[in-house]
Amino acid sequence: QIPVFDSIAAFREWREELRRQGKTVGFVPTMGALHAGHLGLVKNARKECDAVVVSIFVNPAQFAPHEDLDQYPRSFDSDYASLVESKSCAAILLPKVSEMYPAGITLDRAQQQGTFVEVQGLSHQMEGIPRPHFFRGVATVVTKLFNIVQPDRAFFGQKDAQQCVVVRAMIRDLLLPIRMRALPTAREQDGLAMSSRNRYLTPEMRNIATLLYRAISAAKEVIQTGATNEREEILKPAYAIIEEVTKQVKDQGLPFEVRLDYLSLVDVATLGEIEVLGKEQAAILSGAVYVGTTRLIDNVLINAE
Ligand code: PAJ
Repeated sequence: QIPVFDSIAAFREWREELRRQGKTVGFVPTMGALHAGHLGLVKNARKECDAVVVSIFVNPAQFAPHEDLDQYPRSFDSDYASLVESKSCAAILLPKVSEMYPAGITLDRAQQQGTFVEVQGLSHQMEGIPRPHFFRGVATVVTKLFNIVQPDRAFFGQKDAQQCVVVRAMIRDLLLPIRMRALPTAREQDGLAMSSRNRYLTPEMRNIATLLYRAISAAKEVIQTGATNEREEILKPAYAIIEEVTKQVKDQGLPFEVRLDYLSLVDVATLGEIEVLGKEQAAILSGAVYVGTTRLIDNVLINAE
């Protein structure tokens, strides 16, 4: 059995006991609807730390009024069962919105009260373009969760590459005594990145959902052959794959649309768009596509691990 804390005060007592015992604490923040990607983080955390805390909190501050906060999948019973089965989780933190946001929280940013954390320079490109509120919400909630859990190490998935960059910068800028670990993306057999939102895909959508991964892998291949280091040439095969699948879906009269949101090739430190890739420049090749109304994101790292 794993203790489940919905009270921050009760959690803090439990945490204090670990400190007295001199145990190291690893932390995996999540929004629940756990899948093998989340559980991989938990298992890896357990290899590096004496005790692993998993938080499950669907954070209102990272959703905009028109986004899927109400529809976001919530499945505590199966989340709990899979954490027990992982044998790697020492405690579950399930905080209440009212405790996390003492000043209250509304999704309408103009009406918001209280304290927020914003990582300037890294929050308004890529995922931050369609979701300008998103990384402010993430940085704020992760700061609050860090202050509750006081972990030695925190574990994040490379699946959300920009989130990793933002959190790493925040830890540095706010002088937090936490070591950040970013672990590789867990994928389905056919390459689709695992995601809580994959459950929104119909079987027909699921069949073509690997298009983004195939596209960015094709672009990465171009880089690895060393044929060119120019952005447009690198991204060409990626655009071609996406166009081809989009056309296929249309020609077959499938009852949904495929639409590319963006592809980007950015420097891993600054998230600035790269026009000419340096020979050993560490970069993130990432993108987002809509399959029906579901927005899928994925990325691969270049010259980095
Ligand atoms: P959530 O989407 O639940 O993801 C929790 C953690 O699991 C994140 O670090 C994410 O990158 C990681 N993850 C998701 N899919 C993964 C995959 N296929 N492989 C490896 N890791 C994967 O990200 C969030 O929640 C929230 O923004 C949060 C950080 C909890 C703040 O609210």
